[in-house]
Amino acid sequence: DKPWRDVIAVDELEKDWVTRVEVDRRTITVYDTPTGIYASLARCTHGGADLCDGYFDDHVIECPLHQGAFDVRDGRPIAAPATRSMRTLEVRVRDGQVQIRL
Ligand code: FES
Repeated sequence: DKPWRDVIAVDELEKDWVTRVEVDRRTITVYDTPTGIYASLARCTHGGADLCDGYFDDHVIECPLHQGAFDVRDGRPIAAPATRSMRTLEVRVRDGQVQIRL
């Protein structure tokens, strides 16, 4: 299995919003939600826009470019023109750090 990596302190997350982190030159979006923390690759599967710049509400990230939307819990597309799931990442919290597996 891939190792868990610290990406950001829980305290540094934008509350109920998205936070951009860089890991191995890849941009990751970390989502703080009412039911926990989720993460995905930042690249929109529709046209490559950066989802870190999107609008976030509850569990839904809306792409800033064409307003496609995804459920951050499983990555599934829930609004056109997005049709392919975004790539979600495993997340856990240890010692106050958000960790992901890439
Ligand atoms: Fe995200 Fe088009 S690039 S919906």
